[in-house]
Amino acid sequence: MDFQIAVNNSLVDVREGETLLTALRRQGIKVPTLCHMNRFSPTGACRLCVVEVEGKRDLITSCSYPVEKGMKVFTNTQRVIKARKLIVEMLLSNHPDDCLYCERNGNCELQWLADEMNVKERKFFAKKNPYFPDGSSTSVFRDPAKCVLCSRCVRICEETQLVTAIDFISRGNQMRVNSAFNKGLNVSSCINCGQCIMVCPTGALTDISHIEKVQAAIDKKKKEVLFFVSPSVTASLAEHYGLKPEKNLGELICAALKKIGADKVFDLGMASDINILGEAKQLALRIKNGAQGPLFSSCCPSWVKYVEEFRPELIPSLATTKSPQQIFGKLLKTWYTKQRKVMPDSLYSVAVMPCVGKKFEASREEMTHKGISEVDAVLTIRELMRMIRTNGIDLRNLEPVPFDEPFQGCSAAAWKLGYAGGKAEAVAQELFESMKTSDKETFKFIMPKNIAGRRESKLTIGKKTFGFAWVSGIEKANSYINQLIDQGRTDIHYVEVMACLEGCAGGGGQPINRLPEKPRNRKKICQDMEKINHWANASENSSLEKLNRSLKNSPDVDNPETYFHTHFQPREVLK
Ligand code: SF4
Ligand code: SF4
Ligand code: FES
Repeated sequence: MDFQIAVNNSLVDVREGETLLTALRRQGIKVPTLCHMNRFSPTGACRLCVVEVEGKRDLITSCSYPVEKGMKVFTNTQRVIKARKLIVEMLLSNHPDDCLYCERNGNCELQWLADEMNVKERKFFAKKNPYFPDGSSTSVFRDPAKCVLCSRCVRICEETQLVTAIDFISRGNQMRVNSAFNKGLNVSSCINCGQCIMVCPTGALTDISHIEKVQAAIDKKKKEVLFFVSPSVTASLAEHYGLKPEKNLGELICAALKKIGADKVFDLGMASDINILGEAKQLALRIKNGAQGPLFSSCCPSWVKYVEEFRPELIPSLATTKSPQQIFGKLLKTWYTKQRKVMPDSLYSVAVMPCVGKKFEASREEMTHKGISEVDAVLTIRELMRMIRTNGIDLRNLEPVPFDEPFQGCSAAAWKLGYAGGKAEAVAQELFESMKTSDKETFKFIMPKNIAGRRESKLTIGKKTFGFAWVSGIEKANSYINQLIDQGRTDIHYVEVMACLEGCAGGGGQPINRLPEKPRNRKKICQDMEKINHWANASENSSLEKLNRSLKNSPDVDNPETYFHTHFQPREVLK
């Protein structure tokens, strides 16, 4: 620490150049904030973080004011408390009074602030915002009437994701957040990452919910309702409910979904293994053919949409293997229906994912055949948790129920897809398995330290060395790719890109909680599950052998090599 300042008449240690808010938080002194976001430059937009500093006439915003030698700060004088309360009362003056029906009821920062500031009645009556909600997107629902103009969504969309699908328009009391040309998000450059949902303090940004259509499918009983659950969903629920990473962890989710009304529940992990093997095979072929530049992963639908819109020149370098969600959907609606001798439209398939972008992916034209979608609905983890609550299920006290056949069991590699870097390692392992020259060779993939938001690792097979990299967040991915091109590097052969920071562990469909340790805890659970898994890597998954034999003999599968592949194309959007 560099020097001390006085806070509420006690001395506290501070670092030169840090903001007052940072110093106060380190001491455990609570100062309310709304527009502040860690790692983003302060805007001073909401003024909720005001404190009193001796010798200064006006209250100062602690999130943007640096610590100074000799400072005497007071964080809870009556003047400070009144000023903060007034700000909250003004924010509430035009806010809709529909908390009971709001998606964020009970998890809304404005609600918490009103409670903390002891706001008991509406003091000011401003004209309600006349703005209409925008439900045009496949993934993100916008209700501008609930917006408190904190700018968090605008900054994450612009600075972390480089997309700027939403921005402030107009001035004064007309100011609001909107998408380009006041058109719906569906025609904007939005990549459906959901990171804006994760940072919005209110219900102004939420999921496009699929709960009702899934519930309707269950209630109507006209179709068999089949759920398939990503291993990363299991890890997040374990983290949320405090469950131990044990072998039958996923079986608790299976038990919950059966109680909700699922006819069958499958483990999506098997499709993750297929995806890993598919990308590793493409990588081996690319290396053999001496292709220029790295192969990019394509299981993140938001990254894929970003490439289609902003960097179409990279499309030929995207892996064409379908994502695990779409592999599973295709298997269900084709091979599985043939096995069961039922029509594809007699099944209703529901993916449960840590991602809102997957709702967009399921709606892509290439993922529909003869008018039938591979995946009919996608529930985020938030939506699944709501269904668990609605159905009065206590996940901690359920008897585990095994996943349904024939898609049981996945390798440890499938769990790796739950966090940043895991996919790169899993693909490297499969490249190694396919290219190693002797059984004496061992797979070594050392996870190095973070280098400016991206990581790289080398893999040696025989006399050859291959470079792998992984990066999460579009801005970081974009600048890393530019660097590779500018420096003319040819030593990187595969790049894993995830649009969400920390990969799926920080996905846009995860429970809303801004604590940075949450994604780390989820990653740890995935890694613990890897350790107790029967198969160490995707090619060890023996149930895939049976499936592949069956696919090869299926008259429906014209080419097993391309059966799980897709294509991408440049996309015109409003920018
Ligand atoms: S979903 Fe992602 S791209 Fe779309 S508006 Fe939100 S942050 Fe921007
Ligand atoms: S939509 Fe949400 S995050 Fe964006 S400015 Fe409004 S309140 Fe803030
Ligand atoms: S949190 Fe400091 S001005 Fe908004």
